[in-house]
Amino acid sequence: MLELLNTPKGDPILSIMSVFRADERPEKIDLGIGVYKDENGQTPIMQAVRSAEIRLANNATTKSYMGLVGDESFNKAIQALVLGNTQAQTRAATLQTPGASGALSTLADLIKLARPDARVWIGNPSYINHRPIMQKAGLEVMEYPYLDLKTKKVNEEAMLKAIAALGPKDVLLLHGCCHNPSGADLSMKTWEEITLLAQKNGFLPFVDIAYQGLGDGMDEDAAGLRFLVDRVDEALVSTSCSKNFGLYRERIGAAIVVAKTLQKAKETRMHMGELARGTYSMPPAHGAAIVAEILNDAALKSQWNSELEAMRKRVVHLRKKLVETFRKKTNSDRFDYIGSHKGMFSMTGLSNEQIAKLQKEHAIYVVPGGRVNIAGLRESQIEAFVSAFVDVGA
Ligand SMILES: Cc1ncc(COP(=O)(O)O)c(C=O)c1O
Repeated sequence: MLELLNTPKGDPILSIMSVFRADERPEKIDLGIGVYKDENGQTPIMQAVRSAEIRLANNATTKSYMGLVGDESFNKAIQALVLGNTQAQTRAATLQTPGASGALSTLADLIKLARPDARVWIGNPSYINHRPIMQKAGLEVMEYPYLDLKTKKVNEEAMLKAIAALGPKDVLLLHGCCHNPSGADLSMKTWEEITLLAQKNGFLPFVDIAYQGLGDGMDEDAAGLRFLVDRVDEALVSTSCSKNFGLYRERIGAAIVVAKTLQKAKETRMHMGELARGTYSMPPAHGAAIVAEILNDAALKSQWNSELEAMRKRVVHLRKKLVETFRKKTNSDRFDYIGSHKGMFSMTGLSNEQIAKLQKEHAIYVVPGGRVNIAGLRESQIEAFVSAFVDVGA
């Protein structure tokens, strides 16, 4: 039977990782895979995480199954972290999932269950996995315009025009903050206009927030999402602890449902639990236990907050330095957009030829499409990075 399968193309981002590893040039720079790195090029374990793990190891009593909805102390804490002090909190329910990927996939299955003819609208561009996850659930995927490649800003006018045509069978997938791959986020005004359209036309907003805390701050990054979910009857949210807790490999995230009533939200969560039962069954315990331990302990939470703040500040500093260096090298402000982008990524608009040249001649690895992981740079590499960019004609 397996001969019926064709040769897979492979994931463009993951395949760059192995070519990078094999590259023997000492000056090589990996700006491909979306992980945060510190000034030593490491993706560190946060101290708050380490302390929580030590406590957990000492106090754990069982490795028995978790149950379908996962760890309730995690669910409660992550829901509060994302929704904050909103009225939506009182009519929401949360399911622990294996990463935001697990949340996206379970929420996609939920949409298909609720409304098999639903269409999911994703931005152009969007997170590389949005389309395949939605399609795997059997959903039709449509695109709305998002990034203006010339200005590297959101084309809010074109986006809103497309969204204005959506109705009750449509789901609008948005990025909560730190847009992947572009770094260009929605203005508060656009969140407000989207909210008005959702109220008027009845489409279902679905917000994927995978980088809360890496843009402007925990509350600041969730402000648009909170404004929206507070004012609509129903909304879906997927969130991740991969980046803001550095728990990439623990596979921890959550699917949050906001409904008209708490009762409806709880029932919807039961559906999601059943859908998860048909795939991975129950979520893994460790990541949820770490996050719950941190968020439910004032000292650990404050330590985690300051570590996250240091990460955020490092990225903001790198962006500032990049803008300054580009200005000096090019005598122009055409790279200023890097300073206005949020989070780990910036879409540079590099062509495939320029990307290939960067890799071949400068040992700088960028993914197809031209997304650069700013958080993968060291300050000491900025001069070389900027010179290489200018050399390839960016
Ligand atoms: C926008 C977005 N959503 C979801 C995910 C998936 O996150 P996780 O690793 O928690 O599954 C990512 C990861 O890169 C992302 O960028």
